[in-house]
Amino acid sequence: MADLDELVTAVQATSKYQPISPDLVRRIGAAELAKRPRLKEAVKATKNKLHQIGGAYFTATIDYEAALARIAAAQRQGAEAQKEALAAVMRLHASTNERLGILAEFYAATLGGLPPIGSVLDIACGLNPLARPWMPLAAESAYLAVDIYADMMAFLGDFMTLSGINGAAQVVDVGGAVSFAAVDLVLLLKTLPVLAQTDKTAVPRLLDSLQARYLLISFPAKSLGGRSKGMVENYEAQFYGWAEGRNWQVQRFAFETELAFLVRSG
Ligand SMILES: C[S@@+](CC[C@H](N)C(=O)[O-])C[C@H]1O[C@@H](n2cnc3c(N)ncnc32)[C@H](O)[C@@H]1O
Repeated sequence: MADLDELVTAVQATSKYQPISPDLVRRIGAAELAKRPRLKEAVKATKNKLHQIGGAYFTATIDYEAALARIAAAQRQGAEAQKEALAAVMRLHASTNERLGILAEFYAATLGGLPPIGSVLDIACGLNPLARPWMPLAAESAYLAVDIYADMMAFLGDFMTLSGINGAAQVVDVGGAVSFAAVDLVLLLKTLPVLAQTDKTAVPRLLDSLQARYLLISFPAKSLGGRSKGMVENYEAQFYGWAEGRNWQVQRFAFETELAFLVRSG
């Protein structure tokens, strides 16, 4: 345990990893220490894993204060200016960046036919809550967003307040034990393969714990490095593996940069 405490302190001493959920650093650190007991190597392996599942998605360092000021200024100029400013910030995270070209179509096609949605849980959200104006949801729908970065969650919380969104953003490691309140819609966008990288049992455990009428589950159609060969087929097979034995009705949507499944549960 002394080693694990030391590992967590060492990882958090690097500014890039400092805002990451301490629960996640501990969970990954414990697994790495079990594989290689030398502290220095375990610290390095933990940092590599954290980079793979989180850090690698940032296309630039984000100045959250400047981003919020930009959005606030744009909002005063109207809805179109607001959307432009939100898109500019979404470009700073690879995952939302690659959805920008299909954003309106993506949400209209997947969520447009749903009955009124009162509550949304956006799991491992990245900057996706900034896409709220593109989602066909009632203004009063509640929106809870969770991810592992404290600075990003603080920014998203401020954005929600600024934009009058009835929501909150929280730091949660969803690969650990979680218990979310029941919601109408869960968003699990390009997240399940990332969770499976830290623990093979994390995805079924998370899916078992969720109480939702609908889930929108998606997968990237290309890797971060731009490779796409066989990815859609592999992810589709992985999705149906996770869906097995669940009482799910599934609708499939193939977009240029993303493969999505709208699930009606129960
Ligand atoms: C591929 S990105 C998807 C982001 C967003 N859902 C989207 O589609 O734009 C994966 C996200 O998972 C988050 N993440 C990774 N491990 C996590 C964990 N254990 N708990 C919560 N979030 C996690 C990362 O920080 C990152 O934002």
